[in-house]
Amino acid sequence: MPNNREAQLESLAESVRNLTESPLYTYRTENDYAAVFGEGNIHANIMVIGEAPGEQEAKQGRPFVGSAGKVLNELLGLIDLEREDVYITNIVKDRPPDNRNPRVGEIKLYAPYLVQQIEIIQPKVIAPLGRFAMEFILKQFDAFEKQKISQVHGTVIKAQATYGEIAVVPLYHPAAAFYNPKLQDTLREDILTLQPFVA
Ligand code: URA
Repeated sequence: MPNNREAQLESLAESVRNLTESPLYTYRTENDYAAVFGEGNIHANIMVIGEAPGEQEAKQGRPFVGSAGKVLNELLGLIDLEREDVYITNIVKDRPPDNRNPRVGEIKLYAPYLVQQIEIIQPKVIAPLGRFAMEFILKQFDAFEKQKISQVHGTVIKAQATYGEIAVVPLYHPAAAFYNPKLQDTLREDILTLQPFVA
């Protein structure tokens, strides 16, 4: 592994691009999609983790650039953050067909890349978006007690990372606001939980 963050992340991104054993790899190449590794401030305090890229993301190779991304950008704006201030990624780095939920095997396959991204960036706060990311992150840090996203959204869950204590702040997935407009207000309230962690 190279010894600076940028080079380490680039090497990891290259491995994801070459992940031919992924069941989503053929779908990526057949559709001229790109893997979506993640982007933003590699020294950020806050890391935002979604589920998997949608079509816009896979076309551009960038996370949260479609309609859910618009919502995310607006939410970050409420706490005076630009998306460039945080690091944004997903658990699964390739688009699942028709935006279906990621499968257990896919989450397992891509998980080591996310875990290494966390190790390299060492965020003090992780905001998983939606139940898949919440469950994955809480399990990863031995803090999963079968919580439902409806119970823990907008709360701070302390956890221990290899590099120190972190705060996990689960949020509803921004796309949930499309299906349930009431959640828009909840998302706007919940994002304020991140305010004290803004440097
Ligand atoms: N939804 C996600 O979970 N991630 C993205 O990058 C875009 C939409």
